[in-house]
Amino acid sequence: MKKTTSILTDSFGRKHTYLRISLIERCNLRCTYCMPEEGIKLSPRGHLMSYEEIYTIAKTFVDHGVTKIRLTGGEPLIRKDLPIILKKLSSLPVELSITTNAVIVDKFIDPLKSNGIKNINVSLDSLDAGKFKHITRRNEFERTYKNILLLVDEGFKVKVNAVVMKGFNDNEIIDFINFTKDLPVSVRFIEFMPFDGNKWNMEKMLSYDEIMQQVHTSFSEDQVERLTDEPNDTSKNYKIKGFKGSFAIISSVTNPFCDTCNRLRLTANGQLKNCLFSSSELDLLTNLRKGRPIEPIIKKAVEAKFKMRGGMDTIEKLQEPKLHSQNRSMITIGG
Ligand code: GTP
Ligand code: 5AD
Ligand code: SF4
Repeated sequence: MKKTTSILTDSFGRKHTYLRISLIERCNLRCTYCMPEEGIKLSPRGHLMSYEEIYTIAKTFVDHGVTKIRLTGGEPLIRKDLPIILKKLSSLPVELSITTNAVIVDKFIDPLKSNGIKNINVSLDSLDAGKFKHITRRNEFERTYKNILLLVDEGFKVKVNAVVMKGFNDNEIIDFINFTKDLPVSVRFIEFMPFDGNKWNMEKMLSYDEIMQQVHTSFSEDQVERLTDEPNDTSKNYKIKGFKGSFAIISSVTNPFCDTCNRLRLTANGQLKNCLFSSSELDLLTNLRKGRPIEPIIKKAVEAKFKMRGGMDTIEKLQEPKLHSQNRSMITIGG
C-alpha cells in the first residue's frame, strides 16, 4: 500500500505532487534570457545524476505522493541515455511529460510515444526566422516550426511557450494567437523573469495586463473566452471563439500563482530546489551516493519553502539583483 506520509506538504499546507527533473545542463540553443552570455560552468560529469540515480530519487518522490514528472534541461533531448530514462520513469505510476525546444524532437517520436508521453511543451519565442536566430543564437527556426506541426500530427498535446520581451517579440502576440486558429495548440505568453546572468529588468518585461491590451487591439471582449484553468496551472487560459487552439499567460512577475504551487525541482546534479526562485538547495545526490536516506532531506527542503517566489514576495524584492542573482541561471534550473 502507498505510504501516506506528508513529507511533501509544506508549512502552508501545499501538497507537492509535481516534480520537475532537469536531465542536463547543456542545450543546443543559446537563448539570451536563459543562458548567460559568458556561458556557464558545467558540473563535472561525475556530479550529474545517472539514469539509475534519477530513477531511485524519482521513485522516492512518487512513493510519497508525486503524480506528475516533467523532464527539462538545458535541452533534455540531447541527453544520450534519454530513451532509457524514459523507459525507467514510465514504469512509475506518474504522468510523464517533457519541455523541449523541439529542434531534434522528430528523432524521438517513437520513444516518447511508447513510454506514454502525451503532453509536450515547446519553447518558441518568435514566428520570424531572423528573430528566432537572434534570440537563440542558432539558425533552427525551420526545424523547430516543422517539428511543432509534426508533434500535433502525431497526436501529442502541445503547448508553445513564448517568453515575451519588449522591443523584441511583443509585436508578435497577435501572430501567435492567429497561429492557434487552425492548429490545436496552446500558446502561452510568459512574463520575462529574472535569473542569474540574464540581464533582466522590469522595462524588458511585458506584463499580463499589457499582453491582454494587445490581444484586445485585434479581438473584441466578445471574441475572447476565458477558459477554466487546471487546479495547479501556472497559466491563465483563454481562447478566441472558433479557433482550434487556445492561448494563455504565465505571469510569475505581476500575478504569481504561488498559493497553488505543487512543484519541486531536481537539478541535473541532484540538488533539490523547493522553488523556481529559491537561492538555496539541498543535496540529494551526495546523500544517495553515501547510502543515506534522502527522505529527511526532502522533508527539510519542503518545510523550508517560502510562501512566494523563494521569499521575493514583492516586485521590489524581485527587482533586487542581490536577491535574484543568488539563484542559478535558468539553463541549469530547467524552468
Ligand atoms: P504544464 O505541466 O503543462 O502546466 O507546464 P508547466 O507550466 O508546468 O511547465 P513548462 O516547463 O512548460 O514551463 C512554462 C513556464 O512556466 C516556464 O517559463 C517556467 O519557468 C514557468 N514555470 C514553470 N513552473 C513554474 C513555477 O513553479 N513557478 C513559476 N513562477 N513559474 C513556473
Ligand atoms: N523568463 C521566463 N521564462 C523563461 N524560460 C526560460 N528562461 C525564462 C525567463 N527568464 C522558459 C523557457 C521554457 C521554459 C521551461 O522556461 O521559454 O519554455
Ligand atoms: Fe511555486 Fe516558487 Fe513558482 Fe511560486 S515561484 S509557483 S512558490 S515554484
